Amino acid sequence: MSFILSGVMGWPIAHSLSPRLHGFWLKKYGIEGAYLPLAVKPENLSAAISGLSALGFSGCNITVPHKEAVIPFVDELSARAKRIGAVNTLWFDAAGRLHGDCTDGEGFLADLSAVFPDWKEFKDSVVVIGAGGAARAVLVALHDVGCRNIIVLNRTRERAEVMCSDLGIEAHIAGLDWSGFSPRSLLINTTSLGMKGQPPLTLDLRALSADSLAYDLVYNPAETPFLAASRQQGLATGNGLGMLLHQAVPGFEHWFGVRPEVDDELRAYMKAALPC
Ligand code: ATR
Repeated sequence: MSFILSGVMGWPIAHSLSPRLHGFWLKKYGIEGAYLPLAVKPENLSAAISGLSALGFSGCNITVPHKEAVIPFVDELSARAKRIGAVNTLWFDAAGRLHGDCTDGEGFLADLSAVFPDWKEFKDSVVVIGAGGAARAVLVALHDVGCRNIIVLNRTRERAEVMCSDLGIEAHIAGLDWSGFSPRSLLINTTSLGMKGQPPLTLDLRALSADSLAYDLVYNPAETPFLAASRQQGLATGNGLGMLLHQAVPGFEHWFGVRPEVDDELRAYMKAALPC
């Protein structure tokens, strides 16, 4: 088999953990290939996408700020990528057509089930915080597995309204000062609040009982102030490192022909690259 090439295209890209992640799997499965950081400025996106096939790439991941801008260059857009309005995984088929998908929601659900095996008990009491690209992927995934009466909290309410109306999802929308939680809720932070260098997400959690669940898409730091406050109240918590690992699985399978496993060894290897 020939040497297989993939990578992650973004700007900036040096901080991306994806080369470490795919590098782990390439080694584990003994695949002759490479997964490279591809630093592409917004004005060079078109040329870079054309260059992928010219350079013999099997495809690549797409990250900030190109996830929406790449859509016009895709020949076959998956239904969910179209609905969410973003692409994070590209691959060429045998005929050379470029496929685009958004695997964030799938990765989110896979990790949610791994971290909270009984999370579906919370199907009708889910609270999503945020209304950006990550929130869209999470909302669509939750809605598609039957979650209803979702509550969306966002600093800018109008943005949440536009998001829900675009996605055709009925939700109760409120600001970050809302505190009318059902005692037993599943809270999911999709915003960048709590990330290293960002202000914390501070919610009034007092209405929640200790058997509620809190999940934060942020994984650096491993425990955000939101997760710390939730844990102090007795809630079970999970961060988004596992989502990062699971969203990468379909891409690796498309490019390298093996469906890779997300296991404890990989989790530990990736955690080692993050500050405590
Ligand atoms: P992504 O694509 O990663 O989700 P995004 O589209 O920039 O990123 O969305 C960022 C989310 O974080 C939004 O929900 C944003 O709230 P607004 O819609 O009100 O902008 C939220 N966010 C970012 N910084 C924030 C802050 N300082 N306070 C409150 N919310 C913030």
